[in-house]
This record gives sequence, C-alpha cells and structure tokens, in this order.
Amino acid sequence: MGLYTRDRAIIHETFRKQRAGSALMLLAVSNDVPLAQAWLDFTGRGSKQCPSLWAVRVFPPLQGCGIGAWIIASAEDAARARGASDIKLEVEPENILALRLYARLGYRPVGWRPKLEFGVANERRSPPVDLQIMQKELRTC
Ligand SMILES: CC(C)(COP(=O)(O)OP(=O)(O)OC[C@H]1O[C@@H](n2cnc3c(N)ncnc32)[C@H](O)[C@@H]1OP(=O)(O)O)[C@@H](O)C(=O)NCCC(=O)NCCS
Repeated sequence: MGLYTRDRAIIHETFRKQRAGSALMLLAVSNDVPLAQAWLDFTGRGSKQCPSLWAVRVFPPLQGCGIGAWIIASAEDAARARGASDIKLEVEPENILALRLYARLGYRPVGWRPKLEFGVANERRSPPVDLQIMQKELRTC
C-alpha cells in the first residue's frame, strides 16, 4: 500500500541478508494481505547469540489488537530455534506505547545508543536522538 516506499532500499538489503542467512523477515498475512512485520538481524546490529529485533510494524488500523505482541512472540521463537539465548531491540524513548508493550513482554532497558540522523547529502542533523536499548532473555521451555 506504499506505506514504506521510502524504505525500499532497506527492504531490498534486508531481503538480500535473509537470503544469505543473516536476517529473517517475518510477515503476518491474512487473506493475502500483509498485516504486520518484524525483522531479525543476526549480524551487524545483532549476533547469532543475541539477534536484533527491528522494523516491528503493524498496519495502523489494526494496531492495539494483539498482533504486535503475537508477531514479536513469533520472532522470539524463530530466534530461539536458531540458537539465540537473548534478543534485543532499540526504541525511541518518545514511543511510550511501544516501550510499555516491550516492558510488558519482558524486555528490560540495558543502555542507550546515539542515533545519528542524516539529512540531504548525508549532512548530519542535530540534535541526535538517543535510542533506548532493551534486551530479553529467551528461556527454553
Ligand atoms: C508498536 C506496535 C508494533 C505494537 O503492535 P500492536 O499490534 O499495536 O500491539 P498489541 O496490540 O500487541 O499490544 C498493544 C500494546 O501496544 C501498545 N501500543 C503501541 N502502539 C500502539 C498503537 N499505535 N495503538 C494501540 N496500541 C499501541 C498499547 O499501549 C498496548 O500496550 P499495553 O498492552 O501495555 O497496554 C504497533 O503499534 C506499531 O506498529 N506501531 C508503529 C510502529 C512502531 O512504533 N514500531 C515500534 C518501533 S520500535
């Protein structure tokens, strides 16, 4: 539906990493309609031991219905199945609703990472936004 057209280069790059085995792009689909996504990165942002969960998005009209929690649980299962012991993510501190959801799902703050924003021709914009890093231990049942 064109919601993420501007992110097409990132989508292509992550798909390439998925084919190479270092990323996973989960998609929740109903009747051929994509409802939500969650990506896992096993190199770069994350590692095999502690992959990074990112690009968690639920189609806006369907937010707040439990789909986000459900696809995050699926991503955790996928990480666990690939041998991960922990999982981490980064969230903007102003995203209060997402922070609350992650806390409810067992993610705990472990630090901050400065996020540098880049404008036209890679000119650095200021001030940089700090991202809250959260991590969760993946217990095996
Ligand atoms: C954050 C997000 C993935 C959560 O998915 P979701 O399907 O709305 O979440 P669920 O229905 O499973 O859980 C609802 C919880 O999410 C919170 N929430 C976050 N954003 C919400 C929104 N836009 N609408 C309703 N609830 C939202 C609710 O407060 C609720 O928390 P609570 O159970 O502690 O009260 C989703 O709202 C979204 O795509 N937001 C925009 C993109 C984004 O911010 N992604 C996270 C980047 S780190």
